[in-house]
Amino acid sequence: MGSSGVAPPTVGPHLACIMDGNGRWAKRRGLPRTAGHTAGEEALAMTVRNAAQRGVGWLTVFGFSTENWVRPASEVRHILDLHRKLFGRIKDLNDNNVRVNWIGRPFDEPGSRTPNAIQKAIAQAIDDTKHNTGMMLTVAFDYGSRAEITRAARRAAEHNEPISVATLAAELYDSRLPPVDLLVRTSGESRISNFLLWQSTSARVYFTDCSWPDFDAQQLDQALALLRRSPA
Ligand code: FPP
Repeated sequence: MGSSGVAPPTVGPHLACIMDGNGRWAKRRGLPRTAGHTAGEEALAMTVRNAAQRGVGWLTVFGFSTENWVRPASEVRHILDLHRKLFGRIKDLNDNNVRVNWIGRPFDEPGSRTPNAIQKAIAQAIDDTKHNTGMMLTVAFDYGSRAEITRAARRAAEHNEPISVATLAAELYDSRLPPVDLLVRTSGESRISNFLLWQSTSARVYFTDCSWPDFDAQQLDQALALLRRSPA
């Protein structure tokens, strides 16, 4: 039983996505970067449906990193608005039996920059989908893996716990997250960029040249096919 008091799904792989390339997708079309993010949010909504329908148990996406705050204010505002849009897609999420979850720097800790409106949207979406029993959609917002692991070590020390894999795992932002089975990064970048470092120790990794706004059902199926390969 997790911190929300709701049992997590026990079946289905854990897919994690670094949704890269929105800006370049827009640039190629002569559009502002914000148009790329808008298209990226649509692609994410579609991927949530497609993943749920394919039996993915956990989908964790890098929505906003601890490093993203330095982008121009208008772009940050736009990306934040898109999070509200995503968290507002309650009918779609419920129709697909998807539960919403969040990981990131806790709002009540020093350094938290998450505006109230986003905090509320996250809390509302979690509440509005908590009775669903299917895929868990975890949005990483104001998230960085090093910060997560450093905080876990600090908390273990504060609680006078021995430093071990088990005690650190229990202090992560959400200890219910199972190991990542498949990590996808779009747009031709072959980097992990401080995302789910602890959880991805055994993950298969799928890098594709496809930009995130073009990531469709066919792309998802190609990525998921990696999971069917037997170990080398
Ligand atoms: C990378 O594109 C993507 C991000 C900075 C994260 C934002 C993701 C979205 C807006 C998609 C919707 C997601 C949510 C959770 C609402 P980039 O700007 O780094 O692209 P570039 O590398 O081509 O410039």
